[in-house]
Amino acid sequence: MSIQENPIELSKIYEEAPITEPQRQYYFMELLKKIVKQRSEALGRPLCFCCVTFGCQMNARDSEKLSGILEAIGYERTESEDADFVIYNTCTVRENANLKVYGRLGTLKKIKEKRPGMLIALCGCMMQEPQVVEKLRTSYRHVDIIFGTHNIYKLAELIMNRLESGSMIIDIWKDTDKIVEDLPEHRKYPFKSGINIMFGCNNFCSYCIVPYVRGRERSRRPADILEEIRRDVADGVVEVMLLGQNVNSYGKTLETPVSFAQLLTEIEKIDGLERIRFMTSHPKDLSDELIQVMGSSKKICPHLHLPLQSGSSRILKKMNRKYTKEDYLTLVEKIRKACPDISLTTDIIVGFPGETEEDFKETLDVVEKVRYDSAYTFIYSKRNGTPAASMEDQVPEDVIKDRFDRLLAKVQEIASQVCARHEGQVMDVLVEQLNHQDKSLVTGRLGNNTVVHFPGDASMIGKLVPVLLKECKGFYYIGESYEKR
Ligand code: 5AD
Ligand code: SF4
Repeated sequence: MSIQENPIELSKIYEEAPITEPQRQYYFMELLKKIVKQRSEALGRPLCFCCVTFGCQMNARDSEKLSGILEAIGYERTESEDADFVIYNTCTVRENANLKVYGRLGTLKKIKEKRPGMLIALCGCMMQEPQVVEKLRTSYRHVDIIFGTHNIYKLAELIMNRLESGSMIIDIWKDTDKIVEDLPEHRKYPFKSGINIMFGCNNFCSYCIVPYVRGRERSRRPADILEEIRRDVADGVVEVMLLGQNVNSYGKTLETPVSFAQLLTEIEKIDGLERIRFMTSHPKDLSDELIQVMGSSKKICPHLHLPLQSGSSRILKKMNRKYTKEDYLTLVEKIRKACPDISLTTDIIVGFPGETEEDFKETLDVVEKVRYDSAYTFIYSKRNGTPAASMEDQVPEDVIKDRFDRLLAKVQEIASQVCARHEGQVMDVLVEQLNHQDKSLVTGRLGNNTVVHFPGDASMIGKLVPVLLKECKGFYYIGESYEKR
């Protein structure tokens, strides 16, 4: 859609745009609504958008906000990238995430050639890397809007800028202390929601690009978080996932500091909320106070994702993780004492620079001692600008591959044993959807996050149902609703 087709006088608009947020964005949304409506009437069909999310749950949550804005403007959601507005919310934690985006942009170019007026936007972590933006600016001219992680709330304004200028809009902020509340959102599930409690990361683990692309740590005010959860619960939500790069250091930067454990205690009091989850926890900041709150809570799920990264104290030091193998194992012991039935999951990186066979065996040793319910295993990926990228003795690819395969085999062997420990028990399952393969089954999750399939129907979706866990099939259960018996 070009601005020539737009009857609104844009210079006038800018004079009138409010300065304060979120009012400013609502103002742009109102204007875009008129433009989208007019365009849609001219075409005789609704305009549609496709939002593709790469990476972690933070990005998934950001995409709900982007989708909310696009829906408020009048676009209809579609899963196909053959759409009037396509937005990629990108990840850059590992190199292959970037490569995927470049590949898909090639395909989008062909779609755009056949679709006059199509707009393409890119945002998220990958856009915070200057060399990426430079490459896009010079070699991917079919991209219309590029923005980063700090200003996703500005989507409406950026679309307006693009329509007005007729050329590529690039708006990347290095960092921000701004948190804009109360914009529209499109929640993927009516019964569970992701809640950002903090943004950014101050840890600078030596392999990780996140602190560079997501900026410094800042926490949302407890009152804003509690209000959002209450609103979601009134709207049918029974489970929340509190999101942050390092939730254990929540609240430290607030004017009146509040601990994560105190925040959890307040959230627990919300009537109608059944389950509380959170991620990610950094072992160095996991306090005794938090362990105690987890141990006595009725709503915090018996699941903790506690990234190990490496089992070797020597490598952990080079990773700047600020704990040793022994610290980690002691912490696990304390958690298991307070919450005996808890499921532990983790992230492990294989092939960090300088990792020897001995170091790797230390990792295997922790895996054997902790007995994780599952572990995300990653091959070390060199990220430009991080301290580890310039470390010498990068591990050869074939050695990494061999270690990766051995680690995966160990993780899977243990996980299938650990997962089966509830066989024969009756436990509550939050039903999420009809089973994709067999529509006579529904699929849901236990409090500890294990997937369960059992006979049921769509009326169960969003409900907590007691289920007899009949058979563990490695990583999931086949069950039977216990209410029917
Ligand atoms: N290479 C491989 N894995 C990485 N992670 C973060 N940075 C890198 C990297 N450079 C992994 C860590 C983190 C998870 C989200 O991604 O294990 O916990
Ligand atoms: Fe990256 Fe470490 Fe921050 Fe996690 S805690 S986002 S691994 S720097």
